[in-house]
Amino acid sequence: MSGLFITLEGPEGAGKSTNRDYLAERLRTHGVDCVLTREPGGTPLAERVRELLLAPSDETMAADTELLLVFAARAQHLAQVIRPALARGAVVLCDRFTDATYAYQGGGRGLDRARIAQLETFVQADLRPDLTLVFDLPVEIGLSRAAARGRLDRFEQEAATFFEAVRRTYLQRAAAEPGRYRILDAAQPLDQVQAALDALLPDLLEGCRG
Ligand code: TMP
Repeated sequence: MSGLFITLEGPEGAGKSTNRDYLAERLRTHGVDCVLTREPGGTPLAERVRELLLAPSDETMAADTELLLVFAARAQHLAQVIRPALARGAVVLCDRFTDATYAYQGGGRGLDRARIAQLETFVQADLRPDLTLVFDLPVEIGLSRAAARGRLDRFEQEAATFFEAVRRTYLQRAAAEPGRYRILDAAQPLDQVQAALDALLPDLLEGCRG
């Protein structure tokens, strides 16, 4: 068995964590060692950075500060959780990773993609996800699902144009590197999304044996 790094991406309200849990359950029935985690966060220290990133505040967070905090949390998460799990041959299922940085800080905030790429190399060296599942959803559906969950966090308070840019960036990245991405229609009923995940299972199990 070799380690496999799978990330789940998409806007707020796309059902990433529900589908992450579902995929883990399916993989575990086949005896696969799965580690479930998320970003920003995944370790106690990185979860504290997450709180800084998500809490609405009177002090406007500079876009560069946001970018550096995201990568600071990621460096800790990689060192404590992701790299050790991959080294022992586990499947890591991570709710968001660096594609979210390109989508939110690049697409949403308008930061230069090349600077994100520099930090990506600095923090990750050559580690990239083996597979990225993009749960795609029209912006208005995602925002109304997020609003129904309660108080909005600092990102969820952004305007629809921000989320249009986020969505566009995910879809552009998936189109540019189709081998690494699978786009799932997250506007479908959950059982249909999960049927699409079931269809991916044979390839994933093959990858685990790889
Ligand atoms: P979520 O994990 O509950 O969806 O929320 C995390 C928020 O953090 C979400 O709005 C996206 C944002 N985020 C970034 O802006 N950049 C990143 O690199 C990551 C991982 C998340």
